[in-house]
Amino acid sequence: MTVADWLAALDRRAALRAKAGLTRRLRARAAGDAVVDLAGNDYLGLATHPEVTAAAARALSAYGLGATGSRLVRGSTDVHHALEDALADWLGADRALVFSSGYLANLAAVRALVRPRTLLVSDAHNHASLIDGCRISGAETVVTPHADVAAVAAALAAAPGRPAVVVTESVFSVDGDLAPLARLHAVAREHGALLLVDDAHALGVTGPSGAGGVAAAGLAGQPDVVVTATLSKALGGAGGVVAGPAEFVRHVIETGRTFIFDTALPPAVAAGVHAAVGLARAGDDLRAELADRAALAVRRLGAAGLAVSAPDGAVVSVTTPGPEAATAWAADCRDRGVAVGCFRPPSTPDSRSRLRLTIGAGVPRADFERALETIVACAP
Ligand SMILES: Cc1ncc(COP(=O)(O)O)c(C=O)c1O
Repeated sequence: MTVADWLAALDRRAALRAKAGLTRRLRARAAGDAVVDLAGNDYLGLATHPEVTAAAARALSAYGLGATGSRLVRGSTDVHHALEDALADWLGADRALVFSSGYLANLAAVRALVRPRTLLVSDAHNHASLIDGCRISGAETVVTPHADVAAVAAALAAAPGRPAVVVTESVFSVDGDLAPLARLHAVAREHGALLLVDDAHALGVTGPSGAGGVAAAGLAGQPDVVVTATLSKALGGAGGVVAGPAEFVRHVIETGRTFIFDTALPPAVAAGVHAAVGLARAGDDLRAELADRAALAVRRLGAAGLAVSAPDGAVVSVTTPGPEAATAWAADCRDRGVAVGCFRPPSTPDSRSRLRLTIGAGVPRADFERALETIVACAP
């Protein structure tokens, strides 16, 4: 095949995506743009909090721009350790380990939980990083219907005597609903299986002092539960975390390829996120505001006849007639100064396209309410 053939084949595939309404384009974003943000994940408005940026700035001048290597090769800074101690304490876990992204944390966590003959039981709505974690682990994976505890129990019962891990999100990233974590844990324990929970959209948003969905379900610190999360959503930064029994975290440090072979989280980001943890823990008023806004969004959009999800966190999804309608709807909103997420396959677990609204307490209340009116006005 010539280079020209190869490029032509890529063009044909782009044309097929365009025909299916699945084109993805980068758009410019200016610093401090005036758009009302219902697309980002800065749930508590901490990305720009002065205490967070000041902590990051101090570490930036102390350590420089990047970590300059993996922590095993280059050394592990006090900033990383302080962040990990703070996260473990908040999550009620024995020990925590940070990664340069939540995606990489999930890849490492799934793989580290797999032993010979392990069965992975993965929820159909799980995030791409968990799906890829299951694939990369090489373990047999059964995908169970969304939030279906009976199906999980049946999958475990069909593999007696085998090590097994139940893999789920807590607040799901697409529809914002909460997994039945306590029941999943009970079923997992009954069958001697472990439970892996990605708390990405719940950390800082739900649970006591914002400690997330696992803590809310009373499962913090359970020895058969491993928690992962991204530090890029309610904590406003970047990076990921794996938290669980100390023996497990030690195993990840010594064997986790996405920990060992990846340049560490920049110290400046670790310091900023550490400051954000303190603010998030103390942010009950922000969480109350988020819950109030999510309920308002459901009421307003529902009253306009739109098909809205029932959110347990700060993610609200609105079903659209198809991918083209989703793209046009999101573009119209953007033209009127409101940024919303436009979720189409393969970013959705089924064939339904959605507008995804991520509610942030940092958006002024009046702007948020006007944004809801804009979304209704632009509906197809
Ligand atoms: C549920 C979930 N897990 C993991 C990730 C990945 O986290 P990160 O962006 O830090 O790689 C995301 C999205 O960003 C997510 O929504």
